Amino acid sequence: MELNKIYNEDNLDTMSRMSDNFIDLIITSPPYEDVCGAGYGAKSKDILFLKFYSDYLEKLFTEYERILKPTGQIFFNIKSKTFNKTLRTPHWIEFLNSFQKLKFKSYIIWKYAGSFDSTKKRFHLDYEIIYHLSKGDNIYLNNNCGIHDALSSVWYVPHNIKNSERIHPTQMPEALVERILKVASKKDYLVYDSFMGSGTTAVVCLKNNINYIGSELNINNYKNSIKRIKKYKLQNKLF
Ligand SMILES: C[S@@+](CC[C@H](N)C(=O)[O-])C[C@H]1O[C@@H](n2cnc3c(N)ncnc32)[C@H](O)[C@@H]1O
Repeated sequence: MELNKIYNEDNLDTMSRMSDNFIDLIITSPPYEDVCGAGYGAKSKDILFLKFYSDYLEKLFTEYERILKPTGQIFFNIKSKTFNKTLRTPHWIEFLNSFQKLKFKSYIIWKYAGSFDSTKKRFHLDYEIIYHLSKGDNIYLNNNCGIHDALSSVWYVPHNIKNSERIHPTQMPEALVERILKVASKKDYLVYDSFMGSGTTAVVCLKNNINYIGSELNINNYKNSIKRIKKYKLQNKLF
């Protein structure tokens, strides 16, 4: 399978071509809307539509477990949403069979300033969740990677992407992926992002000289991620 490439297709198709025990790190962030029922074939936000998403996630985590090396780790970023003025959390994911086959290692809170969902009738939704999972117990986490309190489960990473650099509505700050790579990756690692979006994981891997593979279903997001990677390579004379 070609490395350092984003595949414009459903991630289940990309993973179906990967051999077992192939990937060291999965860093990814699925569409958040679906936590509260919209997406994956859903036509409304009715709770019944969670069924589509949970069936899909069962398949996703099953494939993650298969393609991960025994030392492999997953950083799966998701967030709560509000619907009808109430909070919808993604904790139901923890009850999926395929999730439970993995080792649930840490529940990381990614804290930032400000909220995308602000009201004075609720505490701010100014954090996201990162599920940290692994296939086995022998995993690499570097407590001396230069980050203060590197193994803390609360990470403050500002969501301060400049407007001129924002090309995706749920673009992750590069510093978030940077932090994951610093604490959990080695130079010869292969990273997979199953929801590549604007290409953040790919660009940060490039910056850190780490191989990656990505999947992105949406053609416009795919094209934008390719443009972003080209721009980075041109600026850094990597062609
Ligand atoms: C939350 S965004 C990821 C944002 C990304 N982390 C970034 O920094 O730009 C989720 C992405 O997953 C893509 N997506 C949704 N379903 C997918 C699937 N089955 N396979 C691959 N990509 C998918 C969406 O098009 C969207 O761009």
